[in-house]
Amino acid sequence: MGYRVAVVGATGNVGREMLVILEELNFPVDEIFAVASRKSIGVEVNFGDQTLYCQDIELFDFSKVDVVLMSVSGAFSREWSPKIGKAGAIVIDNSSAWRMDPDVPLIVPEVNPDAVALASRKNIIANPNCSTAQLVVALKPLHDVAKIKRVVVSTYQSVSGAGKQGIDELWDQTKAVYSLGPTDPKKFPKQIAFNVIPFIGAFNDDGYTDEEAKMWNETHKMIDPSIALTVTCVRVPVFVGHSEAVNIEFEQPISVEEARTILRNAPGCLVIDKHEPGGYVTPYECVGEDATYISRIRTDPTVDNGLQIWVVSDNLRKGAALNAIQIAECLINRKLIQAKRKAA
Ligand SMILES: NC(=O)c1ccc[n+]([C@@H]2O[C@H](COP(=O)([O-])OP(=O)(O)OC[C@H]3O[C@@H](n4cnc5c(N)ncnc54)[C@H](OP(=O)(O)O)[C@@H]3O)[C@@H](O)[C@H]2O)c1
Repeated sequence: MGYRVAVVGATGNVGREMLVILEELNFPVDEIFAVASRKSIGVEVNFGDQTLYCQDIELFDFSKVDVVLMSVSGAFSREWSPKIGKAGAIVIDNSSAWRMDPDVPLIVPEVNPDAVALASRKNIIANPNCSTAQLVVALKPLHDVAKIKRVVVSTYQSVSGAGKQGIDELWDQTKAVYSLGPTDPKKFPKQIAFNVIPFIGAFNDDGYTDEEAKMWNETHKMIDPSIALTVTCVRVPVFVGHSEAVNIEFEQPISVEEARTILRNAPGCLVIDKHEPGGYVTPYECVGEDATYISRIRTDPTVDNGLQIWVVSDNLRKGAALNAIQIAECLINRKLIQAKRKAA
């Protein structure tokens, strides 16, 4: 028997990718519903060869579903996820609303799958920030062997991480540059076409951004609070695929060869690291792929026990939709969700 699944935010970047991946992975779906805002009532989205018509969240009966894959804003999730959880469905949420709630597990299945056991506290599970997801997939297996002391990250984040409007803005501005039209920024604080912006989210009092703070807070919650992590998050004119330059300082010695072997055998990681032109992965190549790609593994000679790596992944997949569906699979494998009987 399959499950009754609702995708909330089904018209968005992440929601559409969820529908693709549910079908690709042959997720045991008995019935599936696409849900979005009132303005999207009747909008068509695809699930395999089926066409789904979006329903208004305000009118949707969540008591008839088993799993809700939620990909809407944090404010919206704060209001709706507890109501849906109380109605008996389990919510897997992509927003930042619940990630640091002590009663909500924050999960990347390759890193901390056992945390699903805590899901029953609120019937909500949080998916991490897209940049954190791919980072922890790479860090955890190395931490298990040589204990990470400090990490310095620079991100190169694609515009799809900022939703549909982010993609539209890069597309429109790029065309406008060629046709000498207006390139006024709307979604991003400065022009993103042919530019990079060292700012994502909102400023905190300490000068970091909330996007940057998410990366250390979520890494602490999922791997180890003793890891010192500092980061600069940068938006780049790439449609899909986040990249990260990661400098890692370990407590114990670890060679490049050891790290390469560990990462080659680690779940979710794929090492492509040849010392020849093109022997590394770029975001363009990771689109539509599930893996977290690791390239440019080398020693950092400026610290004791230091390594540098380059980490690339599809932010709409491992950073959001794929991770959420892998969490749902974890729940099924551990028998932590029951399929409701379909009403006669
Ligand atoms: N993109 C990424 O790489 C990524 C990664 C990790 C996490 N996330 C998080 O995932 C969430 C969704 O991101 P996204 O990139 O998919 O955004 P998006 O493309 O802008 O889509 C937003 C979705 O939310 C729906 N929505 C907005 N207001 C609503 C309302 N009042 N009632 C019901 N539905 C409403 C929209 O439906 P309408 O079309 O009807 O407005 C749309 O389906 C965000 O919290 C984001 O931070 C994104």
